[in-house]
Order: sequence, then C-alpha cells, then structure tokens
Amino acid sequence: MNQKLIAGNWKMNGSLSFNQALVGALRAGLQSPAACRIAVCVPAPYLSQLAELLKGSPIDLGAQDVSSHDAGAYTGEVCAAMLREFGVRYATVGHSERRQYHGETDAVVADKVRLALASGITPIVCVGETLAQRESEQTEAVVKRQLAAVIHANGHCISEIVVAYEPVWAIGTGRTATPAQAQQVHGVLRAQLKAATEQADRMPILYGGSMNAANAAELLGQPDIDGGLIGGASLKAADFLAIIAAAGRLAA
Ligand code: 13P
Repeated sequence: MNQKLIAGNWKMNGSLSFNQALVGALRAGLQSPAACRIAVCVPAPYLSQLAELLKGSPIDLGAQDVSSHDAGAYTGEVCAAMLREFGVRYATVGHSERRQYHGETDAVVADKVRLALASGITPIVCVGETLAQRESEQTEAVVKRQLAAVIHANGHCISEIVVAYEPVWAIGTGRTATPAQAQQVHGVLRAQLKAATEQADRMPILYGGSMNAANAAELLGQPDIDGGLIGGASLKAADFLAIIAAAGRLAA
C-alpha cells in the first residue's frame, strides 16, 4: 500500500511566533522515520520561515494557491516558479474557499494545476459539492465536472496530481462526511482517474472536511481514502500528530 499523505491547510492562520511553536511541537512529537507523508500548506508570507523551520524534518512545505499566470503584470499574485524557490513541494489548488470567495472557475483551476506541474510542484486539487448540490443529488456530477476540467487540460501529466475530496458542507462545520459517504465519492473519483491514466491506483485521493483525531482512523481506513487535508485540526499539534499516527498505523 502507498503511504498515506496527511496535509495540513493552515488557511489564513498563524504568526511568526505561532508557527515556530507549532512546528516545534510537531517535530518533537513525530516518530522517525515518519510512517506517512506529511505536509503543511501555509500562508505565502511564511514560506521562507517555514522552509527554515522544516529543514531536516519529514514535513514537506506547501502553499495554498498558485497563480494561473507564469509571470508579469498580475498584482498580488504568486507564481509557481516563485514558490519553487522557497522549496514548496505541494500547493492546494481550487480549494472551495477560493472557488467561492475568489470566483475561481474550473478553467482557472485547470491552468493553475498546469503551471504548478510545470514548476515541479504537486498540486492538491480540491473538489467538492455544496450542501444544496448534495441534497439535489448532484454530488457525482459536480466533482466529476471539477476533476474533468483538470484532466482535460493536463493530459498525461495528470498522474502527478493529488486529488482532495472536500465536501463544502463539511469544511469547518464539525460535520464530517461519514466514511461511507466519503468512500463512495472517492470511488467515483478513482474510476474517473482510471479512465484517464494507468497510474490511478497510486494517485493519492485525500479526504478533507472536519477530519480530526477522533474520526481520522475510520475515514483513512476506507479503501480509496489515501490521506487527509486537514484545516482546523492541523493548527493543534496534538490533534495533527494524532491524525498522522492514525495514518501511520494503517500503513503498518
Ligand atoms: P476543516 O478541517 O477545518 O474542516 O477544513 C478542511 C479544509 O478545508 C482543508 O482544506
């Protein structure tokens, strides 16, 4: 079995002192070697601080977005090549908060994925339905449409992405998808990837949405759940470590 991938999405949280304390506690609590892959996706201004703090640790550095342009007159944007200079290995792309508050379309997300891959950054491509979409039985159609745009624009490189299924109604709400609900959608996404690449079985499909220390083991135990993308619980060292430990036990 592939090692699980546990990625923290700090969102717009942190400070120089908070980051230092959190990474210190994570490093102190991690087993060596780590039994799963670990990453933290941090706000852009902290990338250089985190690059230093994570040196020599098993935790990879991630960003939370990447521009859909490669350089030029795009005020406020950060391109993939810049992220790469700070040792960024992963970037979340198309998070529902970016789709919702920043108007990111499937086409923009697909471009961002293409440029991340071109710079050697692994995009963590987020897909997921709203509560209204779930209640009107559009979940499959929505996640398939979101992933199809990325597959279409990225051809054979698609095997290099990570997918994260994040039901919008489960993000930050304390309301988690049941393991069966999550597995069902992960199965749909796996089948879609299989139609696009022979590598689909080794591609990580993460679950995100109120994953925490108490529910991680059961979610991560599902056959098509290859890891987690964790928001709130990634800001608490003990909780994030417990999720990492749960992932490690499953790989053992
Ligand atoms: P929570 O874990 O806080 O629900 O956030 C999930 C998420 O959006 C991760 O990208």
